Amino acid sequence: MSEASSLQDFFDGKIAAEEKIEPKDWMPEAYRKNLIRQMSQHAHSEVIGMQPEGNWLSRAPTLERKSVLLAKIQDEAGHGLYLYSATETLGASREELIDALHEGRAKYASIFNYPSLTWADIGAIGWLVDGAAIVNQISLQRTSYGPYARAMVRICKEESFHQRQGYQIMVALCAGDDAQKAMAQDALDRWWWPSLMMFGPHDGESAHSAQSMVWKIKRAGNDELRQKFVDQTVPQADIIGLRIPDADLKWNETRGHYDFGAIDWEEFSRVISGNGPCNRQRLATHRQAHDNGAWVRAAVQAYTARQGEQADE
Ligand code: 3HC
Repeated sequence: MSEASSLQDFFDGKIAAEEKIEPKDWMPEAYRKNLIRQMSQHAHSEVIGMQPEGNWLSRAPTLERKSVLLAKIQDEAGHGLYLYSATETLGASREELIDALHEGRAKYASIFNYPSLTWADIGAIGWLVDGAAIVNQISLQRTSYGPYARAMVRICKEESFHQRQGYQIMVALCAGDDAQKAMAQDALDRWWWPSLMMFGPHDGESAHSAQSMVWKIKRAGNDELRQKFVDQTVPQADIIGLRIPDADLKWNETRGHYDFGAIDWEEFSRVISGNGPCNRQRLATHRQAHDNGAWVRAAVQAYTARQGEQADE
């Protein structure tokens, strides 16, 4: 048996035995590349996702809401750094990942290309976007790549707080006056369908799902996770008297799931190809922040180099 085939057998055996693939393990180049793609895009999503919420930090209705939102945004930054570090274990440098984002060669979650127009959007983002992310990330806790799986365990613990604080904002608005309830309904109307798009195209149109399932990078398909999100979220909307903006939504007793309407995949394709409402603004803001932070990176590198020199003296 050739060395290459025995390495492949060793890798396949670990995947079959539900053992985690670790950075020092041999892995197929395509497996490594797929992970760099997905994990870096996950990290980009966490960081870009700070922008729509940061837009309301100075306008939060109370000091308590402001401090909760600040804590959430700080968590997202940490999730991004955690995931960049996990991606670097695959041999990709932080600079390469950030360049790919800035040059449009790497994606981030489509959802963050929509504007946050009112305070209710901050509730809808926490409730729906973090709610969808939790469904996806709980599944990813069982992904085959060790550093990614462990990052997910850590991140999921914080995401549940994110989802609860968002839903709590919606509960408060729906218990308020007519204008506040209308604000909550308007936010649900604008964020519902983009939240369903977060799970990606239908499995039949997914470019990566089949192989990602073989490698156990993905443990559930896009449609299965989307359905799980719909089934858990519709009752939450019912409880607070909000209407899901889907005329085709109805409980299917036979399936034991909600049937729901068709997703506008043309809108999805427009947004992920850079033509959503806020794509240019999001990238311009990220580039500006990255440039503004160049002096900090230079200072840390100079300090680290000096430390190294002193250690050698
Ligand atoms: N937004 C942007 N691009 C998307 C997308 C979305 N919602 N869904 C799919 N795509 C892209 C894929 O990246 C792929 O393009 P690429 O080849 O250029 O990377 C293409 O559409 C085909 O989609 P596939 O289903 O074949 O791609 P995947 O197998 O990668 O599945 C995914 C897509 C389910 C999003 C998967 O990548 C994934 O699970 N990613 C990790 C989870 C993630 O990134 N979640 C966003 C979290 S944001 C967050 O948590 C912040 C918090 O504040 C909420």
